[in-house]
Amino acid sequence: MSTSVYSRYRAAFAQAIAQVLGVPAPDIESQVKPAEPAHGDLSFATFSLAKAQKKAPPAIAAELARAVTVPGLEVKSVGPYVNARFNALPFTSEVIDSIRQAGLAYGSDKDAGTGKTVVIDYSSPNIAKPIGFHHIRTTFLGHCIANLYRALGWRVEGINYLGDWGKQFGLVAVGFQEYGDPARMDDMSHLVQVYVKANQRAESDPAFDEKARDFFRRMEAGDAEATKLWNQFRETSVRGFKQVYARMGIEFEHIEGESRYQGKMDAVIEQIARKPGVKDSQGALIVDMPYADNEPPVLLKKNDGSTLYATRDLAAAEDRYERFHFEKSLYVVAQDQALHFRQVFRTLKEMDQPWADRCVHVPFGRIHGMSTRKGQVVEINQVLDEAHERVLERVKQNMAEGLLKTDDPDGLSEQIGLGAVVFGDLKHKRASDYTFDWDEVVSPEGHTGPYLQYAHARAVTVLRKGGGAPATYDAALLTLPEEQALLRELMRLPEVVKDAAEQYEPSLVARLLLDVAAAYSRYYTLGNQDREKRILVEGNEPMRAARLALTDAVRVTLAAGLTLLGIPTPENM
Ligand code: ARG
Repeated sequence: MSTSVYSRYRAAFAQAIAQVLGVPAPDIESQVKPAEPAHGDLSFATFSLAKAQKKAPPAIAAELARAVTVPGLEVKSVGPYVNARFNALPFTSEVIDSIRQAGLAYGSDKDAGTGKTVVIDYSSPNIAKPIGFHHIRTTFLGHCIANLYRALGWRVEGINYLGDWGKQFGLVAVGFQEYGDPARMDDMSHLVQVYVKANQRAESDPAFDEKARDFFRRMEAGDAEATKLWNQFRETSVRGFKQVYARMGIEFEHIEGESRYQGKMDAVIEQIARKPGVKDSQGALIVDMPYADNEPPVLLKKNDGSTLYATRDLAAAEDRYERFHFEKSLYVVAQDQALHFRQVFRTLKEMDQPWADRCVHVPFGRIHGMSTRKGQVVEINQVLDEAHERVLERVKQNMAEGLLKTDDPDGLSEQIGLGAVVFGDLKHKRASDYTFDWDEVVSPEGHTGPYLQYAHARAVTVLRKGGGAPATYDAALLTLPEEQALLRELMRLPEVVKDAAEQYEPSLVARLLLDVAAAYSRYYTLGNQDREKRILVEGNEPMRAARLALTDAVRVTLAAGLTLLGIPTPENM
């Protein structure tokens, strides 16, 4: 059982208070909060007790503080609060040792999710269509959320639900005859170019548009020739996407798509017809349920008989439940689709699916201004290429100046470039829009991926210079305020992982890592003014060993956290 140091103390503190008050411990535990740093580490407010006890909160707090004793905690009242501070020992060694023992699994709690399954629909780009900013965000967010749930011991079924069915194939197929180069049938970006041209053409040329629709109708009818061509386009795209995912270290449990539900749609429509019912609306078929004023109805079939995005999502939701019996089914999809998911989930509820409430839309805001030197974003690959190039310029410059030695500047730039782009996204709160700024994102300073990767590499370097991480050390020597402050950041990862998973909010992990790096940097730079405070202090072996052990805990925490975010951790940069 991997309970964190913090949660163990919180539980013990709550238990002691509960015992004095004669109430159940969980009631108190939920009221124990982190204290104001000046007043300690844990805090319990007594306001809620005032009425029953008919006493003023400060008097209650003072009385409780006298009665409560917990090994390892110094308990004091401050006004209406009962505060507790971790005694430097054993706290210091508990934090360092638990981190070093866990290694890259630090922050994980493999027992937390035992027996539970989460389905995560993420990335889900559209085949043969240009990729949008939202595909970039869902890819990074979904990957991290999958990592968080895995760290908490859940079975994760990540699904890349490709947009591989729809009129766009008609456009590409019909467009290919005019704009396509048969020799480039297996080039994903060529297909996208053809799509863009065909799409423009269809807007001004109704006959062309009708041909495209007709092609899609043939696909839906199972026409062999149309299906074959569609398959070819699909394979080209999937091959292209797979390269990008490999580059990002992402593996999906399932790569499937909307086309999976071809032929299964009538069954879902029949089921909906039984409850809540379907009806005709201007020749189209819609779900018969109450709608708000101005709310567009849920369309199941168009007047030409072709099915829709919502129809396929309804079929997919059922299919996922049948396959995985999920505890949660997440859809990491842009905020723009909020109405779509509200309606799909509401339909499932109206159908009396008992698991309808387990479906969650995890929405996110927009990225503004993401374009590359080559123009507007078309593919994730181009964004990663540009990050790579920009970082490589700096790596080469650092090498020329003798600041960096590496045999693989290219591989290193790839890792840093990826870290830059991923962190540049994940540090933002999921729901907020942000503006993408190349100079900021790849900078080695500030709130960036390269800054964190650099902090990690610096810890590795300190350890190397110090002769490696010590097996034993004396925790009692770590008395500097900066050391104690650093421990309090390191300690937080397990709690933050839980909160981030619960709230589907990778930015919480991102922010903690920035706090860890900042606390380490304040500690590290102390030595510039005072030689005695150097990590690799001379002539004091025991002190050096203790500081190296702390540095090792920093290294592990940064590596574990970055890995959860999906960011590589080069050791030398
Ligand atoms: N392919 C869709 C798009 O690019 C996203 C699919 C999201 N997942 C889902 N089950 N609808 O907009």
